Amino acid sequence: MRPTTSLSLSLLSTLLLLPISTLAAFTGEAEADGVKFDFTQLKIHSVVVEHKQDPSVLKSTYTINPAGKIELSKDDKEDQCPDGTQVCMISRLWHGDKPDEHAAQIISFGNVESAKDSEPEYTIMRDEDKKVLGLNVTFHGPEYGDKKLKQSAIVKFLCDQELTGLEEPDKDGKGTNALKFVDYEGEQTLTLEWRTKYACEKVLGETPAPSQGSWGFFTWFIVVVFLAVAAYLIFGSWFNYNKYGARGWDLLPHSDTLRDLPYLIKDFLRRAVNTFQGSGGRVQL
Ligand SMILES: *[C@@H]1O[C@H](CO)[C@@H](O)[C@H](O)[C@H]1NC(C)=O
Repeated sequence: MRPTTSLSLSLLSTLLLLPISTLAAFTGEAEADGVKFDFTQLKIHSVVVEHKQDPSVLKSTYTINPAGKIELSKDDKEDQCPDGTQVCMISRLWHGDKPDEHAAQIISFGNVESAKDSEPEYTIMRDEDKKVLGLNVTFHGPEYGDKKLKQSAIVKFLCDQELTGLEEPDKDGKGTNALKFVDYEGEQTLTLEWRTKYACEKVLGETPAPSQGSWGFFTWFIVVVFLAVAAYLIFGSWFNYNKYGARGWDLLPHSDTLRDLPYLIKDFLRRAVNTFQGSGGRVQL
């Protein structure tokens, strides 16, 4: 008995702990200042920026997955951020058209697997009129380099009704692409901007269609009536089958009435029309 108990206990504690550690990471949904944001429609996105460093060029790739960690590539020759990373910066030196074999710099921010760096901070951005401009998400990273500079990445999700946020970035990372590099200040604070309609505050009337659980009365009514009719037919058929040994159409309860239904309806309509016409003069029934 003993081993089973301890096993289920550890399983239970895992299940209990799991939501706590995963809740902290940025899963694409956030709430700040009472406003809810949902970025789960956005997919992993990268932007490449070139910095001239005569005689070579430093090319930095900034990748962000707003809905979870960046999936690791199977190719282990490829440079990548550690498992669990949400924002990844990889820089490589190019000499003419030849890249170095290895990356010069790999920095990860917002590691969902690390207790310390998993929890981002959210700040809502508003203009003077309190209109929502977007959401500011700060991801924390490790201390990096000789100077042990504490790394962080600020991703500003900016409200832009024209862009879904999935638009392909221009090659040089400029222009009106959705994801944009702003700066990497003091070699410790990376700032990216992501323009998307998902960063806009939902206006009333733009709320999503009612989901399950908020079915209207009418839907319920139809369902109940349908179930009642089905139950009646099934039970009635079963009853006729057992009691009278009925087969075929005779199985249906009130099969006589059902067969006569067209005539009954016709008759009813004729009477109704007669009553209506007759209400002016004679009563004809
Ligand atoms: C975004 O948040 C960081 C702190 O997390 C703050 O330093 C920065 O000023 C904020 N930016 C804006 C535009 O609100």
